[in-house]
Order: sequence, then structure tokens, then C-alpha cells
Amino acid sequence: MTPSPTPTQDELKTQVAQAALAYLVPGDIIGVGTGSTVNKFIEALAGIKQNVRAAVSSSEASTERLRALGITVLDANDVERLSVYVDGADEIDGSGCMVKGGGAALTREKIVAALADRFICIADESKLVARLGAFPLPVEVVPMATAHVVRRFRAMGGTASLRMRGSAPLVTDNGQHILDVRGLTIEDPLAMESAINQWPGVVTVGIFAHQRAQVCLLGTPSGVRTIQ
Ligand code: 5RP
Repeated sequence: MTPSPTPTQDELKTQVAQAALAYLVPGDIIGVGTGSTVNKFIEALAGIKQNVRAAVSSSEASTERLRALGITVLDANDVERLSVYVDGADEIDGSGCMVKGGGAALTREKIVAALADRFICIADESKLVARLGAFPLPVEVVPMATAHVVRRFRAMGGTASLRMRGSAPLVTDNGQHILDVRGLTIEDPLAMESAINQWPGVVTVGIFAHQRAQVCLLGTPSGVRTIQ
């Protein structure tokens, strides 16, 4: 018998995107995140869009894709609660704490996640880690505070670099900048998220422990693994 070929990372993302459809409540407004895995989820929504009343999106990029499918996108201010928020992660641990922001959408992701009863994280298995911190931690900052925040990270052993797009700093959907911080040890994600969020000039830190995932759908060569 010929062994089945190992699925590509792209196929694993498609697998978990399809699996996330089972968590949607027909007729509800859904929260939609940002990134390449979420793009697969948006593609999967095409087949069931008659069951989606509307969406709240965490980025201009996802909003554009949803609208292209004919799905109504609402302002977060017009929605009191969402049953589910579906988004990817750069890292996730066994308790659902995540590092996010690789796509620079972390602030809006945290806002939409806060509206949702359940965060459904979709990712390929490479994102599962025993402890957060290998992926550079994204932090959205007010440009005026950049040098101060870089120094504060240096004092705790981290090296922060300004994320660039070409020769200019990347500007987020909120008009701010992103620092990527290497070399941190994230032993207590809840405490570290709370502490860094207090620093003047920090808009959002990419640790999602207060808004952790309740369900994680991981794409593996042997199928979707669910952690909840
Ligand atoms: C964007 C994010 C994404 O969820 C994260 O970067 C994962 O992206 P991908 O699905 O492309 O691996 O936090 O800000």
C-alpha cells in the first residue's frame, strides 16, 4: 500500500478552518480574526454564508475578504456579544494562552475576543508549545513611546525591534507601531500581560491570557486534534 502523503501546512490550515464551522451558531453574528489560517476559515464560510447573520472583524484585510463573499461586517460598537470568535495564533500552550500579533492585528483581535463567549483558536500543530516565548512577542505601541518601551524590555532581558514594512515602520490599522520582542521568558502569561499593558504608550501586548482560547483546533497529519 502506498503511504498517504504528508499534508502540507496549507492543507492543515484548511482542515482546521473547516472544523471550526462546527462551532458556529446558525444565525449568529460571528467574530473573525486575521491571518493565513483565518483566510482559509473565511473561504470555508463561503459554503455556509446563509447561516451567518453578520461578522465583526479584527482587521481591514479580513473585512475586505468577508465583504467580497457578501457577508455583512458590523462595527464592534454595534454588537454586545458574540457566541464565538475564530482566530489563529503564533503560539498556543496547553491551557489556551497564546502569543498573537504576527499579522499586526493584535489590538482589534483582543477587542473582538473580549466580546465573544468562546475563542476558537485554529492553527497547525507547529503552533503548540510547552511554554510561550520562542516567537518574538508583538507589542503595539504609540510611536512617541517606542524608545521608552524598548528600554523597559531591555531591563527585563528582552530585545525589542521596530517592525518595518520596507524602509518605513509598519503602521497598524490603528495608526500605531509594532515592536517585536525577543529573548523574553513568559513564565506567568496572565501576570506578564497585565504588567506590560500598564506601561505608558503600550496599546496592546500580544499575550492573550486574559482572552485565552477555550477551544484549540490543531491540524495534524492524523487529523484535527481538539484541546479544550
Ligand atoms: C495576526 C495574528 C494571527 O492570528 C497569527 O499571526 C497567526 O497567523 P497565521 O494563521 O497566518 O499563522 O495574530 O495578528
